[in-house]
Amino acid sequence: MWFLRFGAGLLWALLAGGLDFKAQESPSPRSPAPVPPLLWKMFQRRTFPPAAEEKPKDACWVEEFDVPGNIIRVFPDQGGFIHREEPQSWVCLQKRLYFNFSALEEAEELTMAQLQIRFGQNSYHASGSKLPFELSLYRASQMALRGMSTHAYSRNLLVEQSFLHLHKSFLFNLTEVARDWRVTGRNLGLILEIASPQAGAFCSNLDSFLDASLLVISLAPKHCKGSRAKRSSHYVPAGLSNVCKPRRLYISFGDIGWENWIIAPQGYMANYCLGECPFPLTEELNSTNHAILQTMVHSLDPEGTPQPCCVPVRLSPISILYYDNDDNVVLRHYEDMVVDECGCR
Ligand SMILES: *[C@@H]1O[C@H](CO)[C@@H](O)[C@H](O)[C@H]1NC(C)=O
Ligand SMILES: *[C@@H]1O[C@H](CO)[C@@H](O)[C@H](O)[C@H]1NC(C)=O
Ligand SMILES: *[C@@H]1O[C@H](CO)[C@@H](O)[C@H](O)[C@H]1NC(C)=O
Repeated sequence: MWFLRFGAGLLWALLAGGLDFKAQESPSPRSPAPVPPLLWKMFQRRTFPPAAEEKPKDACWVEEFDVPGNIIRVFPDQGGFIHREEPQSWVCLQKRLYFNFSALEEAEELTMAQLQIRFGQNSYHASGSKLPFELSLYRASQMALRGMSTHAYSRNLLVEQSFLHLHKSFLFNLTEVARDWRVTGRNLGLILEIASPQAGAFCSNLDSFLDASLLVISLAPKHCKGSRAKRSSHYVPAGLSNVCKPRRLYISFGDIGWENWIIAPQGYMANYCLGECPFPLTEELNSTNHAILQTMVHSLDPEGTPQPCCVPVRLSPISILYYDNDDNVVLRHYEDMVVDECGCR
């Protein structure tokens, strides 16, 4: 595996940017967030599809959300709490939410963004009163300076909802806002405000805010080859014959030094092509007309003209769950990762 070890940095660059070479190091997560359960579930479904689902699938469609896409990222919130000089008694919590989109490449089309805000178990437990909590989500359009009152923010209300309990997670469709952040390049984040008319009783425990994250689905079209036949069954013909065919090769991400940023799988059956392309080429060898003629010339002049090469003629994709350079958790579909068939070319 020395060649893989040697080429790991380059390979990462190729994977990260498709076939655009970029001098980019492999990610080295510093404070990796836990994998969101939803992403994990989506990865499992792609990697081990239930038998009933072995129908042809579009590699660039995210069935779980019914939108186009081949990259699914979860951006952690990087905004801070807002501490005000003159607290308004009915506001329990005020927080800036910020998601750094720099990992999104320009060519990617953002097709969905969903904000998840999670609160701790049974916090703000209400007794008797109706709708004691008001959750407001604003889009920040101007920075506040330290010490200014919150009114110094320009902010536009996106959502306002009342709740009886704040003990679960809330989902908001932010597709339009996230698209606008990208188009305008002005992403000042959001402002989350939780208020209650009975603030004192309910607001004492700010820790009940657990976290916020933004799930973003995007489509990198050049990595999509449209509909695909079902994932290969990794059938590799057995036999001792030396004719061109796929051979088993398990690539362990640990062996190539990628185990610290690839979350799953730990490795996969990548296979490779090896074997002779002898005269006369038979149909099983998936040869081109050119290859057939080349074997004929080779049989007449073995020194002057080599045999055609045994190369992959059909490859299939896999899904990889990993941390990117910004420690975001990403589920991405990668084309051409597994050799299914070889041919003489
Ligand atoms: C976003 O992330 C990039 C890359 O990690 C970093 O260079 C940039 O400063 C970040 N932007 C903000 C506003 O935090
Ligand atoms: C989210 O919002 C976008 C843009 O407004 C809309 O096209 C899409 O249908 C919405 N998705 C859901 C699941 O409501
Ligand atoms: C290669 O040959 C096999 C056996 O004839 C055939 O089943 C397969 O479809 C061929 N693959 C390609 C890509 O032509």
